[in-house]
Amino acid sequence: MTRNWKHKDLCALADHTASELMTVLDTATAFKGVGERNLKKVPALRGKTLVNFFIEPSTRTRVSFELAAMRLSADVVNISASASSLEKGETLLDTARNLEALRADLIVIRHKSAGSARFLADRLNASVINAGDGAHEHPTQGLLDAFTIREKLGRIEGVRVAIVGDILFSRVARSNIQLLTKLGAKVTLVGPPTLVPATFGCLGVEIANSIDEILEQSDVINLLRIQHERQKREYFPGVGEYTSRFGLTKKRASQLKEGCLIMHPGPMNRGVEIDSSVADGSGSVILDQVTNGLAVRMAVLYLCSGGAPMASSATDQ
Ligand code: CP
Repeated sequence: MTRNWKHKDLCALADHTASELMTVLDTATAFKGVGERNLKKVPALRGKTLVNFFIEPSTRTRVSFELAAMRLSADVVNISASASSLEKGETLLDTARNLEALRADLIVIRHKSAGSARFLADRLNASVINAGDGAHEHPTQGLLDAFTIREKLGRIEGVRVAIVGDILFSRVARSNIQLLTKLGAKVTLVGPPTLVPATFGCLGVEIANSIDEILEQSDVINLLRIQHERQKREYFPGVGEYTSRFGLTKKRASQLKEGCLIMHPGPMNRGVEIDSSVADGSGSVILDQVTNGLAVRMAVLYLCSGGAPMASSATDQ
């Protein structure tokens, strides 16, 4: 497959071809080697400035973008909503234009509104990277999930991936669906009909309303948190009911295929969508996902800054 990437921004995986998405994964494979050296830095973004602009809470994404930029030798500034002049009524665009006037080259934004990253990307010369926009997309999470599947199983094409839980409000699910279907995985969305509407079928996925149906057939099971912060009403009777019908309990985990990857984007609600012993068990690749997020974000920052795509075997070149 030809490697190519000619974009200054990453707003949604829906905007990109399979070849571009493979380019990011291959470049990330090359960068993963950097994190395993004693000297974990390369000069690729020396002289560039990245602003991490998080208007919603984050642990994994914010810290890994910061570390990714540092490993590429960029300068990094972190700002949050409460520490910015958004609190005084400044608009998002005015704030971003001021960051650009301060010569920010890359702006990583997490915002509660779908489309916020694209809105800025279309109006700024700086690169804009979407770190999660409402329930729309979380592109680097989708990329790191696919990277982890490819790393652990050796392929993505033909892999059967079940995504379980609050699909309706999940930006992680949307990015996973976009990427995995383009790369040939067979995706099944699992949850109550209120959280997995039949309309998702038009995205080229299967839908199941029982987790027990998909346990024996899945190569990967990706559990999602219930996004209470985005739900404006009740979508199921209660947390206990949800766990009994859709939680990956110890008993259900014992029915998974040998070698099935257990994934979760975090933050986890232990004992709700996933049993604590399953989250910490041998099939879990949850912390590998976090580690891989660093390499994927290095690749995204590098490519959006105009870096040449790398072959995955180029780690030490
Ligand atoms: N997966 C994820 O986006 O985690 P954070 O909210 O901690 O960034």
